[in-house]
Amino acid sequence: SGPDYRPLYASLEKAARYYQWQLRKHPDAGKAINYLKQRGLTGEISVDYGIGYAPPGWDNLIRHMGQTPEALEQLRVTGMISEPEADKCYDRFRERIMFPIRNHRGHTIGFGGRLLGDGKPKYLNSPETPVFHKGRELYGLYEARKALRKIERLLVVEGYMDVVALAQFGIRYAVATLGTATTPEHLERLFRTTSEVIFCFDGDRAGSEAGWKALETALPQMRDGREARFLFLPNGEDPDSLIRKEGREQFEQRIAQATPLSSFLFDKLEEEVDMTSLGGRARLAELAKPLLVKLPGGLFREMMYQRLAQKVGVATEQLGAQPQDQGSNRR
Ligand code: CTP
Ligand code: MN
Ligand code: MN
Ligand code: MN
Ligand code: MN
Repeated sequence: SGPDYRPLYASLEKAARYYQWQLRKHPDAGKAINYLKQRGLTGEISVDYGIGYAPPGWDNLIRHMGQTPEALEQLRVTGMISEPEADKCYDRFRERIMFPIRNHRGHTIGFGGRLLGDGKPKYLNSPETPVFHKGRELYGLYEARKALRKIERLLVVEGYMDVVALAQFGIRYAVATLGTATTPEHLERLFRTTSEVIFCFDGDRAGSEAGWKALETALPQMRDGREARFLFLPNGEDPDSLIRKEGREQFEQRIAQATPLSSFLFDKLEEEVDMTSLGGRARLAELAKPLLVKLPGGLFREMMYQRLAQKVGVATEQLGAQPQDQGSNRR
């Protein structure tokens, strides 16, 4: 048995409830509610995701919770207070919409807080703490599990608002990485939950780079029976803005037509070479091989080598990769 995190979970839960209560009762709550309404969210979805409001002020949470040394210490360990000096501390989250981040058991492990308007930083997240590891957690996974009997696919998006807006439109299978790249731990968690993962990052440069990064991270986990696809959004759109424009049906059309990993991989590499020249095709092989060796053994891996050979115009054996011998065959 490891350390006992129950007091930290209890402290974070109490904070989440405090913020939810403030969204209902604080004199300024109207501003927060208007903001949520203006973003298209109903009270019902806000309740499902436990959304709350951190009011303005330096020590609301501390005064609400930190009356004992133990409680203050829990606020410190969970990253809910900032300490500019040893004898001073103040609430980390002030005047923000609060999104509790829950782990797979439903324990609140941290928060994301959004400003009600423009300004910087737009989002503030809990720091890494003993219970919160950004590289492992997926925002919305607990809520997806709760809402769905069977999770047939998961849509990986960038932001809190994307997850909540999609849920608002009835798409309850979106999860977000928390301002970090997709990690191997994320992928393990995703594929333990479902066999089909669709990456849908913002329609901007950062988003498409995140997509390629996700592909590279996913390769070692692409065992037979699993599927990864990529949904590229129009320039300037994210899932939240697009579903608001188009509605659920059109958005789900896009999901249904998302690009398979195999096509994304080859399309992207083919853009980088001149496929009309022999030299360009040889270069395609050189670019693709270091990626394909990451695939675990199986039919998918063999088919990917075959596909590469077809594109290059040689026999599979001539790729000089000996697909069977490289990588593991573990299942
Ligand atoms: N993010 C962050 N810190 C920031 C900006 C972004 O942690 N200063 C993370 C948040 O998790 C955010 C995600 O990256 O949800 C995506 O960022 P962005 O696309 O800029 O935000 P949106 O979710 O589109 O925010 P909104 O629609 O509320 O403006
Ligand atoms: Mn831990
Ligand atoms: Mn973006
Ligand atoms: Mn966005
Ligand atoms: Mn957005």
